[in-house]
Amino acid sequence: MKVLVTGGAGYIGSHVVRQLGEAGHDIVVFDNLSTGYRWAVTYGELVVGDLADDAAIEAVFRAHDFEAVLHFAANIVVPESVANPLKYYSNNTRNTLNLLKAVERHRVPYLVFSSTAAVYGMPAQTVLTEDLPLAPINPYGASKMMSERMIMDLAASSALNYVILRYFNVAGANPEGLLGQATPEATHLIKVACECVTGTRDGMSVFGTDYDTRDGTCIRDYIHVEDLAKAHVMALDYMASGGESEVFNCGYGRGFTVREVIDVVREQSGVEFAVTETGRRAGDPAALMADNQRITGKLGWKPDYDNLDVIVSTALNWERIWQERRSGESR
Ligand code: UFG
Repeated sequence: MKVLVTGGAGYIGSHVVRQLGEAGHDIVVFDNLSTGYRWAVTYGELVVGDLADDAAIEAVFRAHDFEAVLHFAANIVVPESVANPLKYYSNNTRNTLNLLKAVERHRVPYLVFSSTAAVYGMPAQTVLTEDLPLAPINPYGASKMMSERMIMDLAASSALNYVILRYFNVAGANPEGLLGQATPEATHLIKVACECVTGTRDGMSVFGTDYDTRDGTCIRDYIHVEDLAKAHVMALDYMASGGESEVFNCGYGRGFTVREVIDVVREQSGVEFAVTETGRRAGDPAALMADNQRITGKLGWKPDYDNLDVIVSTALNWERIWQERRSGESR
């Protein structure tokens, strides 16, 4: 298929571009390089542009006859979204609207959208199905929820088919060390712990040890980025073979505590980096895991990397490579 990948120079987008390229798809990446990198685009053509720029969007849609759009481009830092909500409603929600206008004008039949478990907010249960009410508690989650709604409404009024993927906690890196998370000032647990190993950070905090979980720290469903990437490739195949528009959780359905994750990073690296136990971070639910029956059933998705040791070892391997490389890298 001829596909447009927005945000394809970023962490998750770049892993998906690689798998799409290996599967033989014809790729155009559209990315403003605000957090992505040229080197991360390993297949296809890179168009540097911004989804706030309607003329730039129109130009790329005119130049190509896309059969599918995969839309990753977004800001993803929850505390930043609380401090600067309009940045999130602009870059995530309004720019998704800009993209959807082009999708509608050019009658693109298939759309895959990167959503998040943050749309569920603080649910009472710990294992989440896609049918739960959406109740985001921060602007990041709300910006994605609104985008989901626009996509659903457009699909209802046109021939557009979509797959919305709600990511749980994405981590890990390409096992050959070709790609990984290079985002500056990352806040995600496994990335932060790996930066402690390489010395990029002096130490880290555990945000809360008094949760009602097996060791008092929060439980999350960590999914390897290559398994998540595979879900996108399968979503395209699913729609192309007539699958109806659908929302899928992306997670393994089991979780690890913050302490368990830090222990694995320390064990694998042999580095006893400093860990400080602090109070709870606002808005953290005690435990969040994906009910993944829908994606395993309807898409036939089966993970290849459902193993915390593998997630951490690929993340650590990448962090070491990236630490060596980044001083000489420009976007
Ligand atoms: N944590 C720490 N110390 C850190 C970083 C994180 O203790 O330095 C803890 C958090 O408090 C949380 C867990 O590790 O309990 C995971 O935190 P992350 O920030 O890695 O991830 P979140 O679960 O907060 O967020 C993830 C995605 C979001 C998405 C959300 C949906 O990163 O984009 O899941 O639930 F919105």
